[in-house]
Amino acid sequence: MADFVVVANRLPVDKRIEPDGTVTYKRAPGGLVTALTPTLATHSGAWVGWSGAPNSTDDPRVDGIDLTSVPLTEAEIADYYEGFANSTLWPLYHDLLVEPVFDHDWWSTYVEVNRKFAQAAADAADRGATVWIHDYQLQLVPQMLRDLRPDLRIGFFLHIPFPPYELFTRLPWREELLRGLLGADLIGFHLPGGAENFLTLVRRVLKLDASRDPVGVRDGLGAIRDGGRTVRVGSFPISIDAANVAEQAAATTDRAAQIRAELGNPSTILLGVDRLDYTKGIDVRLDALDALFAAGRLDPADTVFVQLASPSRENVDSYIAVRGRIERAVAHINGTHGTVASPPIRYLLRPVARDELLAYFRAADVMLVTPLRDGMNLVAKEYAAARSDLGGALVLSEFTGAAAEMDRAYLVNPYDPRDVQDMIVAAATDPADRRRERMAALHRQVVDFDVDLWSRSFLQCLAGAAAENESTR
Ligand code: ADP
Ligand code: G6P
Repeated sequence: MADFVVVANRLPVDKRIEPDGTVTYKRAPGGLVTALTPTLATHSGAWVGWSGAPNSTDDPRVDGIDLTSVPLTEAEIADYYEGFANSTLWPLYHDLLVEPVFDHDWWSTYVEVNRKFAQAAADAADRGATVWIHDYQLQLVPQMLRDLRPDLRIGFFLHIPFPPYELFTRLPWREELLRGLLGADLIGFHLPGGAENFLTLVRRVLKLDASRDPVGVRDGLGAIRDGGRTVRVGSFPISIDAANVAEQAAATTDRAAQIRAELGNPSTILLGVDRLDYTKGIDVRLDALDALFAAGRLDPADTVFVQLASPSRENVDSYIAVRGRIERAVAHINGTHGTVASPPIRYLLRPVARDELLAYFRAADVMLVTPLRDGMNLVAKEYAAARSDLGGALVLSEFTGAAAEMDRAYLVNPYDPRDVQDMIVAAATDPADRRRERMAALHRQVVDFDVDLWSRSFLQCLAGAAAENESTR
């Protein structure tokens, strides 16, 4: 039993069964795990989640954290994870970049799987414990857990954007999802806009009394009266362990120089680092580079763009389709603008080890972060943290949560091809002192507002919100 329990769809490690039957655990992909791992290291507690493999029941202890596996069958993985979470909610919450599928069987499985997670959390939590539930896969867990364990302090944080009324209300199960979330004492979003969308939805769909004042950042919480309880709603922009990233990145100087040499010491190295997802705008940056090479604004003989992509949700149709689009674009650019000896695009489709990734950050003159929509985007923050040498430049989409805080980046509208092209050229060619001054501001931002501040501020507000509800019970 633990007095602090994290509940997330994913455990922080992915279980792999090798062809010879041996079992290995690898760090799981994505920003949620990146952000929560340091948080849990400082709060001894338990982590309830899915191992990434079907029917897995083992509960390993990894890096001092007690992991509790929620076993999922292959059918549940298909209908809950690939289906409702990633073919319904993910595209609906990311501006309908692909058409969401509304399937009643998937919904039933989503409800059942959320119940499994709620039960596992109830079993792991000590009396009066704090339970922190994460992300769009588990939006029904707060209320299910409250029904099972009214003694708990329950927080929920959404790691992706929260859409406006006009999009959210397409969901046939809109009331159920809102009700599920309201089981929490505190509901956190990255940006005030997401929190305000939620308050509006609760007021209009559930007819509850919800505050109308603007929501502040880590402050000025919204409030919803629901029966005898008050549910608090706030904005808590997530971040990274910036000091640690800076320190580890500074140790990669030799490897960074070696990477530049391996790439033929071009004048400009551009870099992209993403899960292979249609939200990330990998095609946006490839199209921009194609146009810049064609127009002679960048020299393909003296420029290299490295795209490090990590495979993601590989059974989902929209992910199979975006992979095809990206690989055709890479082949097109290299075939059109490259030579056999020096293709301008280098593309890798596998996760890269942490140290190696940091060395790439230090080697890159320009980092391209061009999502069409992203809740936060930790890659932008990792790049700024890694550049304690104040080298490099960040091109950042306005449609990321990170853009709200990192306004000294080269901000771009990813829907405007000319803007993307112009900003890439500016980031690559601006005078060194101007680039340095921008990077200094970005680096300071991520060091000052790190993941520790994120978790501390959320947990402090949660304690306050829960105490208020306990006093009126
Ligand atoms: P998301 O949560 O949507 O995946 P984020 O940018 O917030 O996006 O977080 C992604 C995390 O995954 C970051 O910590 C990043 O360093 C890591 N990551 C992304 N692509 C790769 C890759 N190709 N190899 C290794 N790590 C990666
Ligand atoms: C994003 C989501 C996380 C998710 C991660 C990786 O960060 O917000 O909830 O875990 O992507 O995606 P995956 O489907 O592999 O868990």
